[in-house]
This record gives sequence, structure tokens and C-alpha cells, in this order.
Amino acid sequence: MPILNVHVGPLELQNPVMPAAGTFGYGEEYASLIDLNQLGAIVTKGISLTPQQGNPPPRIWETCGGVLNSIGLHNVGVEVFAQERLPFLRRFSTPVIVNFFGHTIDEYVEVAQKVSALEGVAALEANLSCPNIKEGGIHFGSTYTSVAKITNSLIRTIKLPIIIKLSSQVSSIDEIAKAAEGEGAHAITLINSVPAMAIDLGSRRPLLGGVTGGLSGPAIKPIALKTVWEAATAVKIPIIGAGGITNYKDALEFLIAGATAVQVGTANFKNPRTMVEIIEGLDAFLRQNGIDDLKEIIGSLKP
Ligand SMILES: Cc1cc2nc3c(=O)[nH]c(=O)nc-3n(C[C@H](O)[C@H](O)[C@H](O)COP(=O)(O)O)c2cc1C
Repeated sequence: MPILNVHVGPLELQNPVMPAAGTFGYGEEYASLIDLNQLGAIVTKGISLTPQQGNPPPRIWETCGGVLNSIGLHNVGVEVFAQERLPFLRRFSTPVIVNFFGHTIDEYVEVAQKVSALEGVAALEANLSCPNIKEGGIHFGSTYTSVAKITNSLIRTIKLPIIIKLSSQVSSIDEIAKAAEGEGAHAITLINSVPAMAIDLGSRRPLLGGVTGGLSGPAIKPIALKTVWEAATAVKIPIIGAGGITNYKDALEFLIAGATAVQVGTANFKNPRTMVEIIEGLDAFLRQNGIDDLKEIIGSLKP
């Protein structure tokens, strides 16, 4: 039996495959389609202090090789999450990673404190890279100083492992990744969706209600791969790779580039079994190639 388990900071995962935040809700819709116990982790939709309505419709637009979204971090808020969504996730043995955000640094800390006090949360993923909200989001993840400041505030006050989710849209990802590592982040997730837009020719209006949005899916995979590789060569903490992963071969590319684990987002919309198929595909690949442990693949890119 090849070994698929990996460590993301202090978290031990039975395999490296998990959903990307916002594409898996709070797990319930997928539970009748796949066995959530098979996943390496479950990552929730981004949670904020209070419920958010998000951006006006249309909020999703299919493009060539991808999807544009301007959901605007619509979510139920931390209280409803605690009372109505988390109890469902506690039924599974899979570690739950809660993705979250705030509009100020204090708000990030407040949400993280509330979430980390809840039973059944294994780690927190701070979204410092949302491309489609007016305040916060991508701005928090754009400079060395702001990433360092927010990571420091979280690490000082929160006991659970902190994963910092960053964007590819920065001038130097190695510097930004070092800011998170330097302040004690346990891991980094890369990448969030890429800022983008589409225009309706008839009306000459933006196709998204939020005007601009984030591009995800296969179209961004090469961008994501390069960003993960750059970050992995700059820092020692684990990187969770995301962006356009649709099958086990995509996942392997990210692992070879230096990711310790991978997230699957947009592909879940087309085929909800994608993550299970990737886990099976990784297992089969290791067997066929006589590799005992998946960790031998991680960061094995040749010059
Ligand atoms: C509809 C939608 C909602 C998303 N919501 C969140 C979110 O709440 N928090 C977050 O950090 N990323 C969010 N993302 C970004 C994904 O987690 C992921 O980083 C990105 O889509 C790239 O992966 P993919 O190409 O596999 O979808 C969202 C993406 C989509 C498509």
C-alpha cells in the first residue's frame, strides 16, 4: 500500500487532497455524492463575523477554460456556522479547515478567535486574497508589511494552525510568502482566483454584477503552478496548491512543483467525484511506478 499521508504543519492528513474554499459550501451538498471521510481535509466556504449577502447577480460566468465569479464572499457568518453547519461536519473523521476573512485586521483576529474556540475545527485558513470584495481581501495579501502584520496578529492570539491564503497577483510571491513564514504561519495556500472580467457586447455592460471577479479553473493552472513553485523554493513551510486542478496528473504537477497538498475548486462543479478520483489516481500512479511514499514526489522537480 503506497503511503499517501502528508503533514501540513502540525496537521496530519490521510492524503493530500481537499476542496478549495467556496466551491464545497459547508460540505453538506456533497455528502450524498462522495464519502467525506475519504478526503484529506474539508475546507469550508469563507466565514466572516456577520452574515454577508455578497455581490449582486450575475455572480458566475463561464469562460474559455474557466469560470469567472464575483460571489463577494456571501456567507452565513460565524454564529450560524457554529450552530447550524459545523455540527454536520463533526460527524466525519476528516479534519475541518475553516476559511475566513475580515474587513480589518482586528476583525480577522475576532473571527479567528470565535472559530478556534469551536469544537471540531482543526485549522484556520485566512483568506488574504479575495479578488472580488471592495474592502479587504486581496489588499491584505498584496504587501510584505500587511501579510506580516496580519499573520503576526493571528499567530499571537490563536492556538490552532494558521494557513495563509495568498494571491498570484503580487510583484514578488517569494517576499510575500516569506512574510507569512517569518511571522510563524504554519502553511500557505496558493492561489486564489485571478482578478478578471467579461463584457456583454449587446449592452456594453460588464457581465458580472460585481463588474470584476475572479477567474478559476483550468485556465489558471499554469499561473498557479508557477506561483506555487516560486513560493516553494522561497519558504520551508508547506504550500497547499490550488488553481485549475481537475485530475491526478494536475495534482502531481503541483506536488512536483513543491506543494505538500492540493485543493480542488471549480472542477467540483463539473464532477463532484473529482477529489475521490484524484486520490485513487495518485494511489494507482504510485503503485505503477513502484513509489512507496507520496512524499518522494513532493518538490522533486528536476532542473
Ligand atoms: C465560486 C467560488 C467561490 C470561492 N470562494 C472562496 C472563499 O470563500 N474563500 C477563498 O479563500 N477562496 C474562494 N474561492 C477561490 C478558490 O478557493 C480557489 O482558490 C480558486 O478557485 C482556484 O482553484 P480552482 O481553479 O480549482 O477553482 C472561490 C472560488 C470560486 C470559484
